Amino acid sequence: MTITVIGAGYVGLVTAAVFSELGNKVYCVDISEERVNSLKKGKVPFFEPQLPEYLKRNIEEKRLFFTTSYSESVPKSQIVFICVGTPPTNNGEADLSYLFSAVEESARNFKGYTLITIKSTVPIGYEDDLEAIVKKYAKNNFEFAASPEFLKEGTAIEDTMHPDRIVIGTNSQKAQKMLLELHAPISGERIICDMRSAQLIKYASNAFLATKISYVNALAILCENMGADVGKVLSGVGADKRIGNAFMKPGVGYGGSCLPKDVTAFIAQADSFNYDFQLLRSVDAVNNTQIERFINKIRKALDAQEGKRTNLDGLTIAILGLAFKPNTDDIRDAPSIKIIKHLLDLKAKIVAYDPQTNENMKKVLPQVSYMEDAYKALQKADAMVLVTEWSEFSQMDFEKIKKIMKKPIIIDGRNMFDREKLKSLGFSYTGVGR
Ligand code: UDX
Ligand code: UDX
Repeated sequence: MTITVIGAGYVGLVTAAVFSELGNKVYCVDISEERVNSLKKGKVPFFEPQLPEYLKRNIEEKRLFFTTSYSESVPKSQIVFICVGTPPTNNGEADLSYLFSAVEESARNFKGYTLITIKSTVPIGYEDDLEAIVKKYAKNNFEFAASPEFLKEGTAIEDTMHPDRIVIGTNSQKAQKMLLELHAPISGERIICDMRSAQLIKYASNAFLATKISYVNALAILCENMGADVGKVLSGVGADKRIGNAFMKPGVGYGGSCLPKDVTAFIAQADSFNYDFQLLRSVDAVNNTQIERFINKIRKALDAQEGKRTNLDGLTIAILGLAFKPNTDDIRDAPSIKIIKHLLDLKAKIVAYDPQTNENMKKVLPQVSYMEDAYKALQKADAMVLVTEWSEFSQMDFEKIKKIMKKPIIIDGRNMFDREKLKSLGFSYTGVGR
């Protein structure tokens, strides 16, 4: 098949890479000329394992093309995938302006039957608006489908090649057939449904994942108050097959480009469909208080060491890990940004290191000193604060760290380190829910 993918972000590029890898001819369209030009040379604008190799191979095999021109690609395509961003507006709803303009630009260029398949996360209820936009340019020779993706940054290619499920949302038999054919080489359960149900599957999945995390973060607080160990509690809870132990790690709260925005957008949608989604309001509220709790934790650890209320003015805090999670250079809604801003307000000096995001962070928080490795960041630091659990931090040389830090204080926001070992080396250790 010949297909067009609109939007060369995480979702669009991974979609284009995978479908070209499977032998289709794929055009990937993006409004950013700079992005398209560097992609043509095989340069990926962000860090995502395996993606550069996939892109390079398929560009060389002449199955994958990048362009800013809809007219170069859409007329040749049977399917157009819409993968532009749907960022949050100030009131938490999804901003659909990119979606509408991508659909409009596509429709101007339809030639023959075209199936518009929405992969972007789009709220329910805009089908008529989308249809009206296309009808301005094309009569009846088009159909819509929704086929949300569930890729996680860091394992995006793997998640797309071997997904748990493929959701195909359309009432048209023809569209179903085309999408089933396109996905034929990919394993995973097929969920065939109407468009609204497909879109709801995406929001409901992300909101459920967020709920799981807020639940374990709330449990972690209770464990601290009660003197229990959240790790043990969650192993016991997760051993129940109905619950499972995936996505059950307590930490500094969920971040990233999807979970926070999809939870607030889902609450807003529920409101407009006459349901006050109180459960999700609480999920969001628990997440929003995580940062402040974590700052208090850092302060408490410093106070305990000094035996008095510490003033952070003049203290150096080393932050390890800045990306919203490991194996990505994405800092959208990264908890690290909020944590650092709080600490800067308290006049602490911040030194930081992340294996992938130092450059991205410099643009957002230029006041921070970024180091090229963890040991350089820890040199003469008054405390180490672990925010993102990159695997390279797990086996650091803590004897060396004890010697180079000014004070042996570790606040571990992800329960990554061996608490007993650190205590035996003379560190003051604070985790989450332990
Ligand atoms: C995706 C989905 O599209 C979003 O709905 C979902 O909720 C999160 O994941 P992502 O791929 O991460 O978003 O988006 P982003 O990395 O912001 O990339 C979007 C791309 O679309 C950018 O390269 C941008 O230049 C391009 N774009 C945007 C267009 O080509 N046309 C537009 O009109 C707007
Ligand atoms: C998420 C969904 O998992 C994916 O299916 C969807 O398509 C896009 O949104 P992503 O944002 O890449 O993917 O990251 P994810 O691995 O889900 O992590 C989200 C946030 O939750 C991160 O900040 C992470 O640190 C946090 N998290 C995750 C926890 O705090 N605990 C966990 O157990 C898992």
